[in-house]
Amino acid sequence: MDPSFWHERWSARQIGFHEGQPNAMLVKHFARLKLAAGSRIFVPLCGKSRDLGWLLEQGHSVAGVELSRIAVEELFEELGVSPAIENRGPLMLFSFEDLAVFVGDFFKLTADQLGSVDAVYDRAALVALPASMRPDYARHLASLSGSVPQLLISFDYDQSATNGPPFSVPGSEIEKHYGKAYRAELVESAAISGPLSQRCTGTEQAWLLSPA
Ligand SMILES: C[S@@+](CC[C@H](N)C(=O)[O-])C[C@H]1O[C@@H](n2cnc3c(N)ncnc32)[C@H](O)[C@@H]1O
Repeated sequence: MDPSFWHERWSARQIGFHEGQPNAMLVKHFARLKLAAGSRIFVPLCGKSRDLGWLLEQGHSVAGVELSRIAVEELFEELGVSPAIENRGPLMLFSFEDLAVFVGDFFKLTADQLGSVDAVYDRAALVALPASMRPDYARHLASLSGSVPQLLISFDYDQSATNGPPFSVPGSEIEKHYGKAYRAELVESAAISGPLSQRCTGTEQAWLLSPA
């Protein structure tokens, strides 16, 4: 999916994916990652999600990457803090205390730039990408994070009912991307709600990926 698609969505404020509160499945299942206090969580394709603030409130550090500078400026504004802004090759780094967000293309972020992370939280990242991009996304995520434990929120619905994003990524596909490195456990499956429920029926699923 072309970066211009997402830049246009942010400019036109077509951000129905943005939840104004921490994701319910994150809040419910985050403890399953069994992280030590002060762990560092990587949130790919983070938008301006309230989940980042919630993770910080749990006493963790957070690293994100997001294509849209608009999103990242609003993220820090809504947290009520002024980030330091630095160039990092083709990306920029916005940071304040325990929060570091790279602005730019996820696929251009390197493991050296990101630094080590203890867990990955993916909400509306894998499912934001078309099928042709998802294998590269999963491979690059593994190269960045070293297959640390992951909480992944996904959708499972009939893809012929509506076009993504968000796309349907059922358990069989999650197994294909992550089955070698992880044991995948479905920890919740609930009827799709929110804007997507006007386009299709299906389930929103929380997956716990534990290193195999
Ligand atoms: C569906 S939104 C989800 C945002 C956030 N995870 C949330 O839960 O609100 C997907 C986000 O990924 C960003 N994005 C898409 N492709 C990207 C890429 N290649 N690199 C970095 N961010 C990307 C978009 O700008 C958009 O904000």
